[in-house]
Amino acid sequence: MDSEIGGFATVAHKVLSDILLAMKIIALAALSLDGYMTRHDDEGNSFTSGVEKEFFARVLNTFNCSVFGSATFDAAREQILAAPPARRLRLVLTTRPEAYAPVHKHGFLEFAAGPPREIAEKLRERGKARCALLGGTRVFTDFLEAGLIDEFWISFEPVFFGSGKRLLEGRLDRALELLGIEDLGGSVLVAKYRVPGNLSAL
Ligand SMILES: NC(=O)c1ccc[n+]([C@@H]2O[C@H](COP(=O)([O-])OP(=O)(O)OC[C@H]3O[C@@H](n4cnc5c(N)ncnc54)[C@H](OP(=O)(O)O)[C@@H]3O)[C@@H](O)[C@H]2O)c1
Repeated sequence: MDSEIGGFATVAHKVLSDILLAMKIIALAALSLDGYMTRHDDEGNSFTSGVEKEFFARVLNTFNCSVFGSATFDAAREQILAAPPARRLRLVLTTRPEAYAPVHKHGFLEFAAGPPREIAEKLRERGKARCALLGGTRVFTDFLEAGLIDEFWISFEPVFFGSGKRLLEGRLDRALELLGIEDLGGSVLVAKYRVPGNLSAL
């Protein structure tokens, strides 16, 4: 009987730890209505409206890490370095971490390389269970293809660009489920989608 109780406690403990350790990765992006993340060849998010910037800043505070590519970092570098240190870890993906050594700050702003699953596993091991994935194209595509994205939160700005960087690249065929729509005002909508069948509870 005692051993049965002991066994049950072990299983319950394992289930609880798995739940606690499960990781949630949410991709956040702002797009033109025709699906571009940048206006033509302009780097950065200067096209996004004030309400979207407020939304982005507000929701980012609910994450304990954010992950993005080096080109996205370069485009926002001055802004990121000038901002007060965020409570969340910012992890910049790059094959050239040495190029960013002068601005590396352990626990706050880190630079690393690796396949998405390895990156996610390391973050989870460090207790970074709620992660905002901020792009760009390759980062979104690689994490989606690795089955690691739980949700996409997409802000639709009421503009058409006709050219620019795409949210994703390659030949994909994925269906999402709508979780809800938030009207930010100023004709800006945020649509939240679940990605069925992801594997991020690693
Ligand atoms: N509107 C939006 O929501 C939104 C979102 C994101 C970005 N953007 C904009 O899009 C532009 C940047 O996007 P992008 O698609 O060109 O680039 P990106 O994804 O930000 O950066 C790509 C680079 O990151 C590094 N990288 C990516 N994954 C890696 C991995 N697993 N391991 C090691 N290195 C990795 C590689 O560079 P190295 O190895 O050479 O460093 C790669 O060339 C910027 O203008 C940004 O402002 C807009």
